[in-house]
Amino acid sequence: MNISQYLLLLLCLLGDTGLASTGIKVKPICIEEERKALLSFKQDLNDTSGRLSSWVGHDCCRWEGISCNNRTSHVAEMDLRNTYDKSTAVEEWDELAYSQSRLGGKINPSLLSLKHLHYLDLSLNNFEGIQIPKFFGELKSLRYLNISFAQFTGEIPSSLGNLSNLNYLDVGFSSSKIYSKNLNWLSHLSSLKYLNLNEVNLSSSTGWLHAVNMLPSLESLDLSGCELEGQLPASFGMLKSLQYLDLSFNHMNGSIPQSLGQLSELVELNLSFNSWEGILTEAHFINLTKLKSLSIGNNLDDIEKPMSLVFNLSHDWVPSFKLHTIVIRNYKVGPGFPVWLQSQTELVQVVLRRTGISDSIPEEWLLKLSSQLEYLDLSHNQFRGRLSSNQLMRFPKLRLLNLAHNQFEGPLPLWSTNASYFDLESNLFYGPISSNFDKLMPKLEELYISENHLNGTIPPSICNMQNLTILSLRSNHFFGEFPHTWSSWSQITIVDAAYNNLSGNIPTSMGILSSLEILKLNNNNFGDKIPDSLHNCSALKIIDLGGNKLSGSIPPWIGGSNVSMLCMLRLQSNFFTGHIPRQLCNLGYLHILDLSHNNFSGTIPTCFNNLTSLIHNVSDIYNNYYLPQTMVILKGQERVYNTTLMLVKSIDLSSNILEGEIPQEIGGLTLLGTLNLSRNHLTGNIPSIVGNMHGLETLDLSNNRLSGQIPRSLESLTFLSHLNLANNNLVGRIPLGSQLQTFTDSSIYMGNPSLCGFPLPTKCPGDDTLTITNAKHNNEDGNDKMWFYVGMGLGFIVGFWGVFGTLLVKKSWRYAYFRFFDDTKDKVTLAIELKVTRLQRKFCHV
Ligand SMILES: *[C@@H]1O[C@H](CO)[C@@H](O)[C@H](O)[C@H]1NC(C)=O
Ligand SMILES: *[C@@H]1O[C@H](CO)[C@@H](O)[C@H](O)[C@H]1NC(C)=O
Ligand SMILES: *[C@@H]1O[C@H](CO)[C@@H](O)[C@H](O)[C@H]1NC(C)=O
Ligand SMILES: *[C@@H]1O[C@H](CO)[C@@H](O)[C@H](O)[C@H]1NC(C)=O
Ligand SMILES: *[C@@H]1O[C@H](CO)[C@@H](O)[C@H](O)[C@H]1NC(C)=O
Ligand SMILES: *[C@@H]1O[C@H](CO)[C@@H](O)[C@H](O)[C@H]1NC(C)=O
Ligand SMILES: *[C@@H]1O[C@H](CO)[C@@H](O)[C@H](O)[C@H]1NC(C)=O
Ligand SMILES: *[C@@H]1O[C@H](CO)[C@@H](O)[C@H](O)[C@H]1NC(C)=O
Ligand SMILES: *[C@@H]1O[C@H](CO)[C@@H](O)[C@H](O)[C@H]1NC(C)=O
Ligand SMILES: *[C@@H]1O[C@H](CO)[C@@H](O)[C@H](O)[C@H]1NC(C)=O
Ligand SMILES: *[C@@H]1O[C@H](CO)[C@@H](O)[C@H](O)[C@H]1NC(C)=O
Ligand SMILES: *[C@@H]1O[C@H](CO)[C@@H](O)[C@H](O)[C@H]1NC(C)=O
Repeated sequence: MNISQYLLLLLCLLGDTGLASTGIKVKPICIEEERKALLSFKQDLNDTSGRLSSWVGHDCCRWEGISCNNRTSHVAEMDLRNTYDKSTAVEEWDELAYSQSRLGGKINPSLLSLKHLHYLDLSLNNFEGIQIPKFFGELKSLRYLNISFAQFTGEIPSSLGNLSNLNYLDVGFSSSKIYSKNLNWLSHLSSLKYLNLNEVNLSSSTGWLHAVNMLPSLESLDLSGCELEGQLPASFGMLKSLQYLDLSFNHMNGSIPQSLGQLSELVELNLSFNSWEGILTEAHFINLTKLKSLSIGNNLDDIEKPMSLVFNLSHDWVPSFKLHTIVIRNYKVGPGFPVWLQSQTELVQVVLRRTGISDSIPEEWLLKLSSQLEYLDLSHNQFRGRLSSNQLMRFPKLRLLNLAHNQFEGPLPLWSTNASYFDLESNLFYGPISSNFDKLMPKLEELYISENHLNGTIPPSICNMQNLTILSLRSNHFFGEFPHTWSSWSQITIVDAAYNNLSGNIPTSMGILSSLEILKLNNNNFGDKIPDSLHNCSALKIIDLGGNKLSGSIPPWIGGSNVSMLCMLRLQSNFFTGHIPRQLCNLGYLHILDLSHNNFSGTIPTCFNNLTSLIHNVSDIYNNYYLPQTMVILKGQERVYNTTLMLVKSIDLSSNILEGEIPQEIGGLTLLGTLNLSRNHLTGNIPSIVGNMHGLETLDLSNNRLSGQIPRSLESLTFLSHLNLANNNLVGRIPLGSQLQTFTDSSIYMGNPSLCGFPLPTKCPGDDTLTITNAKHNNEDGNDKMWFYVGMGLGFIVGFWGVFGTLLVKKSWRYAYFRFFDDTKDKVTLAIELKVTRLQRKFCHV
C-alpha cells in the first residue's frame, strides 16, 4: 500500500467527505443519516433471495442499487428493480426464480430522509396488498419514479401531483386492482414526459383526457388496458408533443377524431383492441410526418361481422410518413391494394389481416420490401393470382409468412428462382426452376399458406429450413409425394398438410423429427402403412391421418414407452385392419380417439378405464398455440370449443367390424363426452354401468347386434342430448325417466322389433294408455317407414359423427373450421404476445 492509499483509507474511516478537494477521484462516502434511513427501509422489506445482503457496513453508496452524488455524497438513485433477467425467453421463463427475487413487505417512510433522491425504481417487485405510499408525494426531488409490475393495489395517491420535477412516471402493470378515480393531480406534473398507466383501471376516472391534455411536455403516454370507455374527444389533438401513444386494449368506441392528424410529433400510435367505427380519411394522418408505427385493429376475425372502420383515403394519396410497422386487423382497407400502402417502402412488419383486399400483391412493392421484411401477414383477404413470378425476390429476414385464407393459385414455387440467379448468389442451385425456400427465406420460422388454391408439389427444400417450426399447407391442391429429405436438425413442431391431394407414403424420414408435436396429414391420398420410424417422434401430441388410404394395423409404438404424450389419435376413414391394441390404454393423455370407418376387428379392449384423461381432469398439455382449440361436430351440430381442446373427450370406433360385448370398463370413463360404437357387430347387453358416464353427451350404439333391455341407468345421464340405439335387438320398454323423456324422435329406437313404449308407436303389453298419434301409419307401410328412418339414421350419423369427415363434404363448415384454427392461433399468439409485451417490449418504450 502506498501513501495515497493509506491516506484514502484513513479519510474513509474518518468519514471525511471533503476528499474531492484533494484531487483524488474516489467513490463518495455515505451520509450517516441516509445510511440509517436505508437500513430502516431494508428492515421493513421482505428480501427472500437476499438481494440486499450487500446493505451492510458504512458506505451505503456502494450498496447494491444505491448511487450517490459524486460531489455531495447524497443518495441520488435507488434502483431496486428485480434483477431476474427480463429478457428471458417465454419458454425459459422461470416463474419461481422470478418471484423469489422480488422484494416485498412494507415501504418505510424513512425513505423521506433521502432528500436528494431523484431516481426511484421499485419495478418488478411484489408489494402485493399495499397501496402506493402517499408519502411518495413528498420525495420532491424525484425525476424518475418507476413502480410498474410491483403489485401495488388501491387508488393511486393524488399526492404524486406534488412531484413537480418528475419526468418519468411508470405505474404500468401494477396489478389489476390499481385504479384512479380522478387524474387531476396529473396536471400538476409540469415536467412529465413519460406516463405509463397501462392497466390502471380508469373506468370511473372522469376527465382523464383533460388531465392528460394539461401535461405540456408529455412525450409518451401509455394508457393501454385502462378500461377507458366512450369516445375519444376531438380535443385530443392538443397533445401536440406526443411521440408515443398507446390506447390499446380499452373499450373506446365511436369514430376517431380528425384531430389525430395534428399530433405531428407522433412516432408510434397504437389504437388496437377498441371498438372504433366510422372512417379514417387523409385528414387523420395529415401531419403525422414522423409516424413509424401504426397499429389499429381488433380480434373480431369473424367473417360475418362487418368491418366497423374503413380506411377511406383517396386512391392516389401518398402519405408523408414512412412506416416500418403497420398492423391493421379487421378494418377495411380494400378492395384494391391502395397507393398509400404501396408508398410504404420501409416496412419491416406488415399485418393486413382481414382488411377486405381483393387484389394481387403489388410485385414492385414486395420486391422493395423483400430484403427487410421480418413479418408478413396478409391472411384472410382475397389476395389472388400467383404468388409472384419475380425471380429476384429473396426474403433474408422473414420470420413469419402468413398468406392463409386467400385466393392464391397455381403452384409453388413461391418466388421461384432460376438457376442463373442462384448461380450468382450462392453457386448452389442449378437446373430447372425449383422452390428454394431455404435460400429464399433462410430465417423463416412460421409458414402459413393454408386455404388457398395452390397446386403443384411441395418443394423438398422445405426440409432444409433450419428454423422452421410451423408449416401449415392445409387445404390447398398440392399433389405428389410429401418431401422426404427431413434431417435431424429440423426444429419443426407442427406439420399440417391436411386437405390436399398428397399421395405416396408418409415419409420414413419424418421419424427423425424429434420436436414434432402435431402431425396432420389427414384427408389426402397417402397409402401404405404408418412408418415405424415415427416411433422416434417422442414429442408427438396429435396424430391425424384420417381420410387417407392407409392400411396395416395400428403400429405398436403408439402407446409404447416412447410416444406416450399423445392426446389425439385420429385414423378414421382408412383401410386399417387388425385388433385395437391394448397399448393404446397406456396413453394417459389421450382424449380424442377416432378409429371409425376402418376394418378393425376383434373386441374392444377392456383396459379403456386406464385412459386417465377421460376419467380425471388432467392438466392441459397443449402448450402449443396452433391447436389449443378446435371445432368438432358433436351433438348433431358443429360447435366451436372455445374452451381448450383438452375438454373435448371422445371415442369413436364406429363403422368397423368389432365384435363381442361392450366392456364394462368403458363405464369408468366418467368424463367421456362422446361414445360412438355404431355400425359394428357388437353383441350382448348395453352394460348398465354406462349410467356412470356422467359426462356423456352423445351415445351412439346403433346398428349393432345388442340385445337385452335398455338399462334404466341411462336416465341418470343428465348431459345426454344425443342418443341412437336404432337397429339392434333390444327388447322391452324404453325407459322414460328424466333425461330420456326429451328424446321424442322415435328413429333413435327404430329397428329393434321387440322394443316398445314411447316414443315408438308400438305399445308395450298391458299398456293402453297412449293414443297413437300416427294411427294411419300401421304395419303395412312399416317397410317404407323403416327405410325412411334408416335414411334419417344415416343422415344423423353422417351429420354428427362425421366430425372432420363432414368437413370434407361441406364447404362452408370446412371454411369455418379452418378459419377457426387461424383465429385460435391468433388469440393465443396474442396471449403470448401480451406476456412477452408485458415482460419485454413495454420495458423499453420511450
Ligand atoms: C416474505 O416472502 C415470502 C416468500 O414470498 C413469504 O412466504 C413470507 O410470508 C413473506 N414474509 C413477510 C413478512 O411478508
Ligand atoms: C459520478 O461518477 C461517475 C463515474 O464514477 C460518472 O459516470 C458520473 O457522471 C458522475 N456523476 C456526477 C454527478 O459527477
Ligand atoms: C402536496 O402535498 C401537500 C402536503 O404534503 C398536500 O396537502 C397536497 O394535497 C399535495 N398536493 C397534491 C396536488 O397532491
Ligand atoms: C374497474 O373499476 C370499475 C369501477 O371502479 C369496476 O366496476 C371494474 O370491475 C374494474 N375493472 C377491473 C378489470 O377490475
Ligand atoms: C360507447 O360506449 C358507451 C358506454 O361504454 C355507450 O353508452 C355508447 O352508446 C357507445 N357508443 C357507441 C357509438 O357505440
Ligand atoms: C400541420 O402542421 C402545419 C405546420 O406544422 C400547420 O400549419 C397545420 O395547421 C397543420 N395542419 C393540421 C391539419 O393540423
Ligand atoms: C399495439 O398494442 C397491442 C396490444 O397492447 C400489442 O399487441 C401490439 O404489439 C401493439 N402494436 C405495436 C405496433 O406496438
Ligand atoms: C395449377 O393451378 C393453375 C392455376 O389455377 C392451373 O392453371 C393449373 O392447371 C393447375 N395445375 C394443375 C396440375 O392442376
Ligand atoms: C436460426 O435461429 C438461430 C437462433 O435464433 C440463429 O442463430 C440462426 O442464425 C438461424 N438460422 C438461420 C439459417 O437463419
Ligand atoms: C395403464 O397405464 C399405465 C401407464 O399410464 C401402464 O403402466 C399400465 O400398463 C396400463 N395398464 C393397462 C392395463 O394397459
Ligand atoms: C363460448 O361459446 C359459447 C357458445 O358457443 C358462447 O356463448 C360463449 O360466449 C363463448 N365464450 C367465449 C369466452 O368466447
Ligand atoms: C419501469 O420498469 C419497467 C420494468 O422494470 C421497465 O420495463 C420500464 O421501461 C421502466 N419504465 C421506464 C420509464 O423506464
